[in-house]
Amino acid sequence: MDEYILRMVPKPLGCTYLTERSRMLHLGGEQPMASGSKRLIYTMPRNPELVLKIARKKNFAKRLRRLFRKSANAADAYWCRKIHGMIPDCAFVPRVLGFVCTDQGVALVEERIRNGDGTPALQPVEFIRRFGRLPAVRQAVEELFDFLARHHVVCNDISEQNILLRHHKHQIQAVVVDGFGDNHLIPYPSLSSRMNRRKLERKKERVLRKLVEATPADVMAQDPTKR
Ligand SMILES: Nc1ncnc2c1ncn2[C@@H]1O[C@H](COP(=O)(O)OP(=O)(O)OP(=O)(O)O)[C@@H](O)[C@H]1O
Ligand SMILES: [Mg+2]
Repeated sequence: MDEYILRMVPKPLGCTYLTERSRMLHLGGEQPMASGSKRLIYTMPRNPELVLKIARKKNFAKRLRRLFRKSANAADAYWCRKIHGMIPDCAFVPRVLGFVCTDQGVALVEERIRNGDGTPALQPVEFIRRFGRLPAVRQAVEELFDFLARHHVVCNDISEQNILLRHHKHQIQAVVVDGFGDNHLIPYPSLSSRMNRRKLERKKERVLRKLVEATPADVMAQDPTKR
């Protein structure tokens, strides 16, 4: 399966394989720090500034589906590197370093999104439940979507779960960590930036609605302008 994934990763990505296959990174009994439906996320051993994203083991049905879908790691690598190539130090997407072979499969190595004080960045819903600050979160999310639309970044699955909020001295920065790429049979978001913009607009409205729903009723009641 590893071989298969290695062949799936197109060369033009320009990504570096950080280790040779013979020098495999052993995760051993490490527990993932987070997980999604497609991937397990580990902290890089001896380097807490990086994460490893490894595709979950697939059953037959998932393998079949995989034939028609692009790898999430390849899409992340392509878009993040493309964006950082255009805008060095862009804060809206994580830096991607490359791929590494681990005993759990091929991993994408990317910057771990953390707050200014080093604590883990939270997803927007969790952030609002903990700190409130809906207007500031809303603004950060709007800035992120504006950025994606302006630069014609194609996202097939940009939801509140695929955004993290990095905060530092009252500043909140939204970062998209997953959901890049076009999964349409006719790839209209890739072909037309106007259509991509419209799609992103719909996604943004959906995310903002979720954030309002997540805001505790007492916070909403205190300040109706926060709606
Ligand atoms: N670079 C990162 N830094 C910190 N945390 C991250 C990073 N990337 C992902 N995470 C955390 O891990 C979770 C799962 O990651 P991700 O969304 O990439 O997995 P996935 O399997 O592709 O997700 P999905 O269920 O949306 O398909 C994220 O919601 C986020 O909380
Ligand atoms: Mg995700």
